[in-house]
Amino acid sequence: MLSKLIIFILLIAQVFAKTILLTNDDSWASTYIRAAYRDLKKAGYDVIMVAPVRQQTGNGGSFQVPKSKTLEKDGEFGYVKKGAPSWDHDADDSNIYYFDGTTSACVAFALNYLIPEKFDNVKVDLTISGPNEGPGILSGFFTYSSTTSGAYFSVYNGIPAISFGGSDLNNTFFKDDLNNDKLLPANIYSSKIVELVDLILAKDAAKIPNTVGLNVNFPQVSTLSDKNCTDPTWMKTRILGKGVLVPSMSYNKKTELYEVGYDYLDNKQKDCEDGDCNLPSEYSVFFAKNCTSTVSVFSIDYDASLSQSNKVHSIIGDLF
Ligand SMILES: *[C@@H]1O[C@H](CO)[C@@H](O)[C@H](O)[C@H]1NC(C)=O
Ligand SMILES: *[C@@H]1O[C@H](CO)[C@@H](O)[C@H](O)[C@H]1NC(C)=O
Ligand SMILES: *[C@@H]1O[C@H](CO)[C@@H](O)[C@H](O)[C@H]1NC(C)=O
Repeated sequence: MLSKLIIFILLIAQVFAKTILLTNDDSWASTYIRAAYRDLKKAGYDVIMVAPVRQQTGNGGSFQVPKSKTLEKDGEFGYVKKGAPSWDHDADDSNIYYFDGTTSACVAFALNYLIPEKFDNVKVDLTISGPNEGPGILSGFFTYSSTTSGAYFSVYNGIPAISFGGSDLNNTFFKDDLNNDKLLPANIYSSKIVELVDLILAKDAAKIPNTVGLNVNFPQVSTLSDKNCTDPTWMKTRILGKGVLVPSMSYNKKTELYEVGYDYLDNKQKDCEDGDCNLPSEYSVFFAKNCTSTVSVFSIDYDASLSQSNKVHSIIGDLF
């Protein structure tokens, strides 16, 4: 009798456990994503992690799948070796997968193959991409950021998603760096991720309109900050606005190579025609470095608003 009751309770718990798909661009062996995986599981979610075997930064929404059945070179940090299968799960955890492709391709692999084949085609309630080892200021980088591509590719597939940027430019191997120190940046970020995910999934993620997702940037915390930032506050932001960042290029005379950087376009793109124009830009809050996380709502609806397209049509209207 008691055992039947326990089975019943377990079944109920199973029914109510929400499923999260977790990905990133820094690789499946990175400290940040492993901290997020550990803490989302601890918070009671079913987490399926599928992340690139190698760093994919700057590849944006590029959709690259494995070119052979085995890895042609070692994975990030040498955690899987050349010659291993092009996708597989961690020897220690069968919910953690690597895939030899870009971030968007990892999400597609999860939704189109792995989850139907190995996870009973479970419904994914929310996709999380990141946290990235660096910031994700999207103004000029929306299509450049691979972390963000994990989120927008999920939104294209009708699954709500959040992209997270961190503020450490140091991608480290989780087996070297992940511990339970509450002040470790990875652990601060993962606890804030759980806070936001708990709120969204308790309220019903399905209510998020199906063409939008969230972009979150964490500030410098703990040892990365001179402000002893251990519990950042949240702030509503918008993606465009004063102080837009765009990719730029410089020539390095020593290496004779071109380098990608970023530029501030202070006087361009500061118009706001749609959205909440009173919100500060992600950029302005992120660079205030005051222990504040930015939360922007992005849209994959590339159509301009009615008033904007009307303005364009008034110019090209003779064509029609
Ligand atoms: C990056 O992390 C490693 C491992 O924790 C550390 O040894 C190294 O000093 C860090 N580098 C920077 C630039 O922070
Ligand atoms: C920073 O804050 C944490 C948590 O409040 C505290 O444990 C730690 O001692 C503080 N560190 C410094 C240098 O003030
Ligand atoms: C942080 O800086 C932003 C931008 O200047 C400002 O709007 C916000 O109020 C600040 N937040 C805190 C907690 O000081």
